[in-house]
Amino acid sequence: MSKPSTKKTAHSAVRGVKKPSPRSSEAKSILRDANQFLMPTYKRQPLVFTHGRGCYVYDSRGKKYLDFLGGIAVNALGHAHGRIVKVIRRESARAIHLSNLFHNSFQGPLARKLSEWSGMDRVFFSNSGAEAVEGALKLARLYGRTSADREGAPARKHRILALENSFHGRTFGAVSVTATQKYRLPFAPLLPGVEFVRFNDVADLESKFDDTVCAILLETIQGEGGIHPVSEDFWNRARALATKNGALLIADEIQCGLGRTGRYFAYQKFSSKPDVVLVAKPLAAGLPLGAVLTTEAVAQRISPGLHGTTFGGGPLACAAALEFLNVVEDEKLLENIRARGAELREGLSGLAAKFPFIREIRGEGLMIGVELSTDGAPFVSAALERGLLINCTHDFTLRFLPPFLVTRAQVRQFLRLLGKLFVSTPQKAAAAEPAKSAPPSGAALAAAR
Ligand SMILES: Cc1ncc(COP(=O)(O)O)c(C=O)c1O
Repeated sequence: MSKPSTKKTAHSAVRGVKKPSPRSSEAKSILRDANQFLMPTYKRQPLVFTHGRGCYVYDSRGKKYLDFLGGIAVNALGHAHGRIVKVIRRESARAIHLSNLFHNSFQGPLARKLSEWSGMDRVFFSNSGAEAVEGALKLARLYGRTSADREGAPARKHRILALENSFHGRTFGAVSVTATQKYRLPFAPLLPGVEFVRFNDVADLESKFDDTVCAILLETIQGEGGIHPVSEDFWNRARALATKNGALLIADEIQCGLGRTGRYFAYQKFSSKPDVVLVAKPLAAGLPLGAVLTTEAVAQRISPGLHGTTFGGGPLACAAALEFLNVVEDEKLLENIRARGAELREGLSGLAAKFPFIREIRGEGLMIGVELSTDGAPFVSAALERGLLINCTHDFTLRFLPPFLVTRAQVRQFLRLLGKLFVSTPQKAAAAEPAKSAPPSGAALAAAR
């Protein structure tokens, strides 16, 4: 077996460090290694990105791209933000990892800040979004258990409701509450006791909610499902039914939370709060970190030994996360998100008036989906050629998740590029017309349960 390459590929985007520019032969060998040795879990573009600055990323040929994908909602401060780089440099020289058997300097202060933003009382740190979902599912099952339940047997109150068209991650529990069949079917049997409610359908919610339900889990704005916000009516009814039946309302804000909508959390537009909030993606400005936030009453159900993690809440990721939250406050980024989001929507509405294949524009702040009546993939490829990073979710919805510090000029640049793409990209006829704003039907999901 040949030895792994130890050749240095500089990729630090820090001041004072040389910009990386692998030669094209090097990029070719990187792609060859990837194709030969990585598991084929992604259909990756044949591009090697080497570094980023603000809202732009650069590939190995030195080509510059305007980044309206933001690492799928992770790079909220763009790339190489000075304050984040400084903290990571400083803290990595102090302690990258310390065991959760001890305290570190950042976990407590970060938990305090998250509780101030969210109105929750207690925090558990995980390594990813899916792990935050796992933590919440375990909390829900604990919450539903009473002394009348036999140890080791399913609690009477163990059912978990999730929504059709949902996406909560790839671990077993998370995929069990994810509705999309292609993600579920190959792994059956999944977690028992999960049922799906039709998206924003209050009658369906009422018919499935009783006192055997321990939690309802929803994305306040569905992300992978094509940018679909939960309606106020649905939220209010879910809140009321959860309270009445002694169940938890769990808001998955892994994609839509932590400022993305122009509020700290997307649910803050409603008059009531959830019992559990899940965050990850932008939390540590690109380092892996997730969190489960909850109330004192719920947190009291957990005790040492029932849940934990080796890496979650490590000092480096928590230091970066604390700095991220401070930057959002200090640089008044919520205002920027609202202002740039409004400009984006206005510009997109202008494009919708010109291009009849734009069916609907959805979302809030800097989380925007444009549903097309035609396949979105050719636009994503054409965008790459023109130096623009976007993606397409649910086949027909172009999704834009730019960094929170995107400027007015960059929004204009984006709209210009998108307009050109819409003129020049040949459209593939849609294989099936997407149902406007309507996630797929429940009948199709039944088989996957
Ligand atoms: C709403 C939502 N929940 C959970 C996840 C899973 O997060 P991760 O990929 O960090 O495990 C994602 C990821 O896209 C997500 O968008």
